[in-house]
Amino acid sequence: MVALDCSHLETLVSEERVHRDVYLDADIFELEMERIFGQAWVYVGHESMVPNPGDYICTYIGSQPIVLSRHASGKTHVLLNRCGHRGAKVLSEDSGHSDRFRCCYHGWTYDTDGRLIAVPMNDLYPDDFDLDDPRYSMRNVAAVDSYRGFVFARLSETGQRLTDHLGPARSLIDELVNRAPDGEVELVGGSLKYEIQGNWKLQVENLADQYHVTFGHESTASRDGFQFQRRTGDAGTRAQIFSSEGEPSMQQSGTWGYPNGHNANGAMNFDGEQEGDVWQEYKSRMIASYGEKKAAQNMHVRHHNALFYPNLDLHMLGQMVRVIRPISVNTTEVTIYPARLKGAPDEMFQDVVRLANMTHSATSLIQTDDVESFERCQAGLHAEGEDWISFVRGLGMDNIEEGGLLYGPMTSEIGMRNQHRAWLGYMTTA
Ligand code: FES
Ligand code: FE
Repeated sequence: MVALDCSHLETLVSEERVHRDVYLDADIFELEMERIFGQAWVYVGHESMVPNPGDYICTYIGSQPIVLSRHASGKTHVLLNRCGHRGAKVLSEDSGHSDRFRCCYHGWTYDTDGRLIAVPMNDLYPDDFDLDDPRYSMRNVAAVDSYRGFVFARLSETGQRLTDHLGPARSLIDELVNRAPDGEVELVGGSLKYEIQGNWKLQVENLADQYHVTFGHESTASRDGFQFQRRTGDAGTRAQIFSSEGEPSMQQSGTWGYPNGHNANGAMNFDGEQEGDVWQEYKSRMIASYGEKKAAQNMHVRHHNALFYPNLDLHMLGQMVRVIRPISVNTTEVTIYPARLKGAPDEMFQDVVRLANMTHSATSLIQTDDVESFERCQAGLHAEGEDWISFVRGLGMDNIEEGGLLYGPMTSEIGMRNQHRAWLGYMTTA
């Protein structure tokens, strides 16, 4: 337990500014692991990553190594990746398949639901040594639940239900998944990973930040503000706040703050419409599944991206899933997965995989710009003389919409203010 009291934490975050210690102080980072990643529902993986019994992926909830596995019963389990003997990480690959999980050190062996099933050379154990003793298991975390294939876990025994944690932001997951003719998405196109020399919140804030697009990604847009074509048959995204005629372009697209720190941005003049034979084929499959009216609604892209605090982002425009993993106070790992719309033509998924490489690989456009900005923020925050950073843009222009959502013009910093409110709520709850 870190000795940081609530009254001190409350001084670090106000409505429109945040103290730089929130990004620089290692004790605060440790407390975040305990009070945010140790208490909230944290996204751990997608059902499609472990389709068959014995499939597993290794990941983290905050600093804690975990395994998402598929057991013989068909149920998914989230296990602490820790051997019940002397604590070694039992599984080390990012993903794999095995009927049993055997620890490399002394061979203790676990079933895919975490139960200890074999201990080699068991002659020297006392008579009352019990394989079923939960102390010797790979422990299941306190709570696991999923929403439309997205699996979340909670380390804390107590807390709200997943449906309440997601609240109205569930509709954002629906928006992506309903674009699939079969009503499911799959993460089956591999992933791209990048490490940032910066605090995890810099990436999370950026997912509520449309102010930076015109400037941070200037080199990716033409004079009219149109970016490159993202996939076959689309007209390119218009990434500017004002058109060359001075008309507001992106601003009216909007940005929203949801309960519990989640947020979403409007779709930046892209409604999803594409041209060509592949698109026509997709359209007819959607109509066959949903009928004409519902298919048109489902195909309409309403949001650029949606952030589920603290670690999951759905990139609706690019059809990708981004996962944020804090490693230390100044190191963050981000993994991005192209999402396949089940039942859609394969060519569409190939387009998304190509797009992921174009926007998120080491030599790509877009994400390399953002990483540069994050790392400059982390470096600049060490400058003495001013302790505060500002989230004042759009303050006082926030509206509350029906359902309690906060709404602001697209480049408002409302989403970030909403995140920091959630941060303070978690951090001051022991
Ligand atoms: Fe795993 Fe000893 S640490 S078997
Ligand atoms: Fe960006």
